[in-house]
Amino acid sequence: MAVVWVKLLRTAAIVAVLGLLYLLAIQKHAERDSQREAPVELTAACAEKLQAYALSASEVYRSPYLHKTTGRVSELSGYSEADIRAIQRGCNIVDDTQGQLAKQGARERWNATRFSRSTHTSCDHCHQSLGDKQDSAGNRIVGSNGLGASWVMADMYDRFTGLLLPYEMRQMQCFINSSNGFKPNAADDLLRDITAYSRFLSAALDLKIGHRYPEQGMEEIPASATLRRGDDYVRGAHLYREKCAACHGVQGFGTVVDGKVLYPALAGPESFSLDSRMHFGRVNTVMAGFICRNMPLGQEGSLANQDCRDIAYYISTLPRPAGDRQGPLVAAWQQLMMGVMPPLTRYAESLGRSDTPHAIP
Ligand code: HEC
Ligand code: HEC
Repeated sequence: MAVVWVKLLRTAAIVAVLGLLYLLAIQKHAERDSQREAPVELTAACAEKLQAYALSASEVYRSPYLHKTTGRVSELSGYSEADIRAIQRGCNIVDDTQGQLAKQGARERWNATRFSRSTHTSCDHCHQSLGDKQDSAGNRIVGSNGLGASWVMADMYDRFTGLLLPYEMRQMQCFINSSNGFKPNAADDLLRDITAYSRFLSAALDLKIGHRYPEQGMEEIPASATLRRGDDYVRGAHLYREKCAACHGVQGFGTVVDGKVLYPALAGPESFSLDSRMHFGRVNTVMAGFICRNMPLGQEGSLANQDCRDIAYYISTLPRPAGDRQGPLVAAWQQLMMGVMPPLTRYAESLGRSDTPHAIP
């Protein structure tokens, strides 16, 4: 008799646990749905960009950018309210990947911190102007890592891996390496929203699927674009202290004030990993191109090609998180160095060999 009771109880317990899991799943789904339905509070930059591109719910979409730059009018199929919320969330994620603005009461799900170990990363740091960098006349900028141009080329050949990668996987690469983070699920709202936003950009800019546009990817500076003096990280270190350290810090650990990232880390635990394409040791042309085109902020284009390669080389010698290709030994070594370097620098400073930007003649 007792045996039957034990069996019954065990079955009841299993049914109860499964039932609870089911209820939990239902509740999570409902939560997610309500987040999808919630109105989106845009960041200032996103509000400006999406308004300039006349994003609104209607049957057809006409791009004001196209009209302004070419005088032509194209009619594309329009967007529903749900589409618009997805595009808005996507833009917010690109602008505010750490959800610094979201924490101030906004309910919607547009902070990506759960996929990022770095507390500095914003997609917008490297995909500048929300993945849509233009000069003052509205011309898109060559090699500015544009997201709209990237979307129309996704599913095409990726020159670094030699594979045909869907857009979601391209985003994952950046979550994993550029923010030293984790891979979001391919069906996660986060990736879908960024895709919706990138796709909207391509419509707003009148980009055609399968075409290669010059703003896609980073402008690269290969060694052949210099006088072939050879890359020199010692010269790079001097240039770095002179031109970059004031913002990005002597160690390259970035500058955070009141919990807001003013200048992102270029090295150390908050930085991109050894596997990022921004890492000179992995791809030695991309970071140099980024620097020459976009830095020092406010004086873009003031550095020579060789300067940019030297600085990129120097930055690559600073400790940073290992990626998934390096294995545990390298990871442990990098971890150790990230801990040891700041005290060493402070010690050097205490000896009067300060590396502050103005100490270099
Ligand atoms: C540290 C700089 C950095 C950050 C931060 C960064 N990316 Fe990237 N991203 C790159 C580089 C470099 C490439 C490769 C560019 C190339 O192909 O020349 C790239 C490529 C991409 C591509 C593929 C582009 C193409 O044309 O093939 C996508 C999509 C992308 N990033 C999305 C994101 C998203 C989403 C985020 C925010 C979670 C992000 N990135 C953050 C540097 C960065
Ligand atoms: C006036 C401050 C300032 C100076 C000087 C400056 N930067 Fe930046 N840097 C920024 C800001 C701000 C960003 C974030 C992107 C943006 O807002 O355009 C950034 C982003 C970057 C990034 C993208 C990296 C990431 O991980 O998100 C790199 C790489 C970089 N800077 C390198 C340099 C180098 C190299 C120099 C020196 C030649 C330099 N910067 C000088 C302010 C500065």
